[in-house]
Amino acid sequence: MDDLISIRDLKREDVELILNTADEMEIALRSGKINTEMRGRVLANLFFEPSTRTRFSFETAMLKLGGSVIGFDDPKITSIEKGETLSDTIKTVEKYCDLIVIRHPKEGAPRLAASVSSKPVINAGDGSNQHPTQALLDLYAIKKLKGKIKNLNIALLGDLRHARVMKSLIYCLAMFDANLILISPMGLEIEKEMVQEVKEKFNNEIFQTNDIYAGLRMADVLYVCRLQKERFSDPYEAKKLENAYKVTPDLLKQAKDDLIILHSLPRLGELDRRIDDTKHAKYFDQIQFGVPVRMAIIHQMMR
Ligand code: NCD
Repeated sequence: MDDLISIRDLKREDVELILNTADEMEIALRSGKINTEMRGRVLANLFFEPSTRTRFSFETAMLKLGGSVIGFDDPKITSIEKGETLSDTIKTVEKYCDLIVIRHPKEGAPRLAASVSSKPVINAGDGSNQHPTQALLDLYAIKKLKGKIKNLNIALLGDLRHARVMKSLIYCLAMFDANLILISPMGLEIEKEMVQEVKEKFNNEIFQTNDIYAGLRMADVLYVCRLQKERFSDPYEAKKLENAYKVTPDLLKQAKDDLIILHSLPRLGELDRRIDDTKHAKYFDQIQFGVPVRMAIIHQMMR
């Protein structure tokens, strides 16, 4: 694997390899075994947008592999503030590191970075476009928590128009034969072209609805995302949709007994805090899979 920019860059075998490697990484982490395969190597974390989980789990993954990390979480402290272009920044940083992780508000920025970098580039989220490593960790989480992906009814709920996690996830889940239920308030549906692409490529059934009750009843997994306010061109439109969907204990009375709820986090109002104490809530467990999965990705890319 040269770069990881879109989930479309991966074949099923590549994903399986990453998940199996993540398994080995997780076992080794748990046993306390020290892995030093990245000793002397440097990962550059270039974050042009806020991040808690993605940045820290890439950092932890590289440190757990014996490597080192450089980077920034605020481009204002770099020469970009003086007007330097992204491509000049990448041509500079690649001289200091062995692997670049980039998050950027502009769709396509990681692809541009990869085109000018001689070192592998990983997309840690670009605008509303893609977030492939989050989808891989979510796939791994579902496999761990549910034992399989195939034939599970997986509902994706929320701002499917703007959430990059969902764009990567829908593709990855279809690749592994999940039945997809897409639930979003009117106006926040995923692009028709994306649904068409996935249907044609994987021959999957995809059920789309604006009705959260209808979608939830059948689900084995409910994956929720927040309203992506910062992606709206009109803040007033975002404000209007602020309370358009919310998972409440009352709503869960309709759900299967063994439903699990996942969320890429951060969460805002879309998950009632009372859900945290139910057996359905798995979003804080989900976080722990970020490190072994990103260790596996780094391992595969640096071979
Ligand atoms: C997501 C992101 O940045 O796209 N967060 C993450 O990486 N865990 C989700 C979000 O911001 O809503």
